[in-house]
Amino acid sequence: MSHGSIALQNWSRLRCRIDRLWLHALRLFFRFDPWHAAAPYSCRPYKALVVELANALQPSLAVEIGCGLGEIIGRINAADRFGVDADHRVIRAARFLHCGRGFWIHGEGNCIDSLVAPECKIDCLIMVNWIHSLSPEHLSDLVVPLLPRTRFLIVDAIDADGPSSYRHKHDFEFLSKLARMRSVSRVPGDPRRFIVFETVN
Ligand SMILES: C[S@@+](CC[C@H](N)C(=O)[O-])C[C@H]1O[C@@H](n2cnc3c(N)ncnc32)[C@H](O)[C@@H]1O
Repeated sequence: MSHGSIALQNWSRLRCRIDRLWLHALRLFFRFDPWHAAAPYSCRPYKALVVELANALQPSLAVEIGCGLGEIIGRINAADRFGVDADHRVIRAARFLHCGRGFWIHGEGNCIDSLVAPECKIDCLIMVNWIHSLSPEHLSDLVVPLLPRTRFLIVDAIDADGPSSYRHKHDFEFLSKLARMRSVSRVPGDPRRFIVFETVN
């Protein structure tokens, strides 16, 4: 390994530690779940992958359901960005972190219709690193109503032989007639694929 790549690796580790310290400090104020402080953008390469996948779609309007602190949706180059999360504590922290840029909404997927005008298409809808807690029926009930107004959907699928702590390992069978798979990507060491679906409506 060259000196350059060792220096880069050391810097990445340091950056990850600094970001964790900062988010743990922020947590004292906003009281969000410790997961968010333990897994900042600089420590979890999957987040940069999802940003890259979304930006390649050149969305004008992007929505992330289960956005946490907004580390993914906040980096997407879209004129309109909506971050939605069921936990009001992360939404309050996201509003603070992103200084009012973007829309940060406390709610679940079923609030999208009241947020985004019906005539507007969602160019990119992101749901990553939490849908493994939903049953396939629950996931389908959440996603299918949004598809007629969505162009691209980015999700993660836990590997079939992934850890049992991930409750549901989705095969997205319910999308088979509604969307086609456009790409599948991975980051090393993460037991999941990141799938971009393009809707067929
Ligand atoms: C592990 S975090 C991931 C955050 C973000 N997607 C990321 O990868 O950085 C999962 C987030 O999903 C949120 N969440 C879980 N169930 C949800 C639901 N039904 N609707 C909206 N958000 C939900 C949690 O509150 C949490 O902030």
